[in-house]
Amino acid sequence: MRMEAILAIAASGPEAAEADAARLAAQGVGALCAFVPQAALAQRLAVNEPAEAGGVVMLLPSLANPLAVARTVHAAWPQAYLLIVRAEDDLPRLRRDLGIAPMLGRQWSLAAVAEPELTTALRQALASSRQRRQLRTTLASANARLRETHAVSLGEYHRLVTSEHHLSNFLRHSQAAVLGLDAAGTVLFWSEGAAELLGVTVRRALGRPLAELGDWAREIVQAATSLAPEHPRQLVEQMVHLGGQERALEAMLLLTPAVAAGARGTSVVLRDVTARRRAQDQLREANLQLQRLVSERTEALEKSQLALLQVQKLEAIGKLTGGVAHDFNNVLQVIGSNLQLLQPLVQDAGESERLLRAALAAVDRGARLSSQLLAFARRQPLDPVPLNVGRKLHEMDDLLRRSLGEHIEVESSLAAGLWTTLADGGQLENVILNLAINARDAMPEGGRLTLEAANVVLDEEYTRTVPDLTPGQYVMLAVSDTGQGMPPEVAAQAFEPFFTTKPEGKGTGLGLSMAYGFAKQSGGHIRIYSEPGQGTTVKLYLPRSFEKEVIPPRHPTGPVQGGSETILVVEDDLAVQAVVVATLQSLGYRVLRASDAQAALSILQSGVHVDLLFTDVVMPGPLRSPELAQRARQLVPGIAVLFTSGYTQNAIVHGGRLDPGVELLSKPYRQEDLARKVRHLLLLHRQQARTPKPAEPAEQADEPSSPAGALRVLLVEDEAELREVTQQMLELLGCRVQAVASAEAADAALRAGSFHLLLTDISLPGRSGLELAREARALNPEMQVVVSSGYGKADTDADTWNLPKPYGLPELQSLIERVQATVA
Ligand SMILES: Nc1ncnc2c1ncn2[C@@H]1O[C@H](COP(=O)(O)OP(=O)(O)OP(=O)(O)O)[C@@H](O)[C@H]1O
Ligand SMILES: [Mg+2]
Repeated sequence: MRMEAILAIAASGPEAAEADAARLAAQGVGALCAFVPQAALAQRLAVNEPAEAGGVVMLLPSLANPLAVARTVHAAWPQAYLLIVRAEDDLPRLRRDLGIAPMLGRQWSLAAVAEPELTTALRQALASSRQRRQLRTTLASANARLRETHAVSLGEYHRLVTSEHHLSNFLRHSQAAVLGLDAAGTVLFWSEGAAELLGVTVRRALGRPLAELGDWAREIVQAATSLAPEHPRQLVEQMVHLGGQERALEAMLLLTPAVAAGARGTSVVLRDVTARRRAQDQLREANLQLQRLVSERTEALEKSQLALLQVQKLEAIGKLTGGVAHDFNNVLQVIGSNLQLLQPLVQDAGESERLLRAALAAVDRGARLSSQLLAFARRQPLDPVPLNVGRKLHEMDDLLRRSLGEHIEVESSLAAGLWTTLADGGQLENVILNLAINARDAMPEGGRLTLEAANVVLDEEYTRTVPDLTPGQYVMLAVSDTGQGMPPEVAAQAFEPFFTTKPEGKGTGLGLSMAYGFAKQSGGHIRIYSEPGQGTTVKLYLPRSFEKEVIPPRHPTGPVQGGSETILVVEDDLAVQAVVVATLQSLGYRVLRASDAQAALSILQSGVHVDLLFTDVVMPGPLRSPELAQRARQLVPGIAVLFTSGYTQNAIVHGGRLDPGVELLSKPYRQEDLARKVRHLLLLHRQQARTPKPAEPAEQADEPSSPAGALRVLLVEDEAELREVTQQMLELLGCRVQAVASAEAADAALRAGSFHLLLTDISLPGRSGLELAREARALNPEMQVVVSSGYGKADTDADTWNLPKPYGLPELQSLIERVQATVA
């Protein structure tokens, strides 16, 4: 082991130094020492510490003033261990001097020169110095390490502190509303954005439980407590009151990572999403609106489809009823005319007359029915004139009150300045009466009927759902009652003909049908609003007219007048023709007849004078009735023209209206109607012509034909009853009749004898009547052939006549007359 050197300081004199060295050598420590004379001490102290000297400075006994030297050394080398060696007797004084004040620090000791104390002292000094030196080194290196670490962490610390400062600065001053909460929900951080959004200053918020800062905080605190590492985030959206306004607040909560280490915390970023919420609400509202609109439109579409279906259905029924009514009218015409012809013959017969009157009343009822059917089918000939609905209601006041009875209160509400409307007055009256009677029937216990008229404008929105209705100005007539109302299924069918809920015999189910047809034909519209138990309103819309109101003349009354003018009757239906001719003749007129327009034209062209042309509208042949009328006017200036029809046709009725100057007599008409109309027209024309022309004698015979004589008729009819009655009628007319039941029998008869006329039913067992007719013609071209049919007019050959069933005596009579004319 290397022994540490001891710096020994001795007195300057050589002898003293030597003596010291010798003493030390004698002590066995001399080799350890480096001797420094006192004179060189200052220089030595200035250079360095006695590191190599083990840090022990020994002050030798030779030194005269050891304490002064010790102080000097201590001042220069405060770490050095001072060992003051003295002579034994010198020690107490030195100890005393040193004891007063610790001027030499802690490391010093005194030792006597005597052995073994000096060696021990020296050893102890060295050990102490070494220990202190070691301690110092350890401390220094520890310090050095500490300094190093300290320097590094300080940099990091600085850096961290700076970036945290920046971050917090950023957050604190950002517009984002950011909060930091500890596990207990206490506010640790509060950005200025949060202060602004929530209206709570940073100072007020920091350190306080969030829940105390406002009602809006409750949900956020609740959400914050539910956060956990498995679900570290949560979004809360709520409506809150901030600054007196309702706002939508969105809070995004995030568990801070420190949670893992046990220090729970939550960061919350808040946003005011009012605008977004509002936009979403608006979008939702717009969506709902859209859905509503779509469903409304769908509903409207379905409604209009339903309406269309309903209209199509009514249209189809209309076609059917129109056809039926037409045929029905002809039947009624025959029955009615025959009954009327029969009337003078049974005048005194009591019971017979009563029966006759009942039959005639039934014909009237039938005629009303078929006219309602025609009205529904929109084939009723209308004569629309500009009229005022208010005036019409006023005129009907009496009639309505009488029809309704006393237990029903009638109220009218007419708008001022009611527009004029274009409608057929008579038909309008019928409609009003029908509606009023329906109302009456719906109020058996009494109630109130309200008649209301007003100007309305129907817009496209309304007309879209009604086929054929154009938007525009209308006069609305509403008939309301406080009656039982209709369930929807009744209202849906109420316009259908024959739909009635009334007991048998009480209702025909045609009232609303005719009102419907009338409205449609008049270019208007009708609608039912009804609520079971509440009542019903039927609204009729008629188009506005800009023409001046026409106040109609009162219906002619008084006795029927006949005349002696000449009338040309053009009618293809021979049965009808026969009764018309008979009627006109009975009124004193001279009558010419033709079965089609062509034949009529021939008569007119022959130069015979005709005062009035009475023609059916629909006739076979290429020449149409309006053309015939036109040609007639050219050929016979001043001729009056009267049309008649089972229903109107476009030929004379355009859009439900008669052409100007056209007069129409609708079938079935009463004898009286025909007489009045004919008389009226003839008078009118006479007035117009001012120079009445004398009636010229007719060229064609219009007198009843001479008796049938021995006209031979072959009657083929498989129905025994009909065969019998027809045979009787023919025989009544003076014919010689052979009646058979089959085509085969007819064949045989035709071959056996000759006939003027073959009258055969169209459907015979095993063979068609038409076929038989053809064969018969081939056998005998001179013979007249007539086919009768129960399906109206049969599709016969040109030279074969038609006799639609049912036919009566007059039809047969006229048939026989015609055959006789050909025979003659
Ligand atoms: N004002 C009303 N209140 C309640 N139900 C009504 C009303 N008007 C009509 N109805 C219903 O509509 C059905 C058809 O009416 P519509 O006028 O066509 O025929 P009707 O009155 O039964 O017979 P008709 O009028 O031919 O004598 C009626 O049977 C009734 O059920
Ligand atoms: Mg009715």
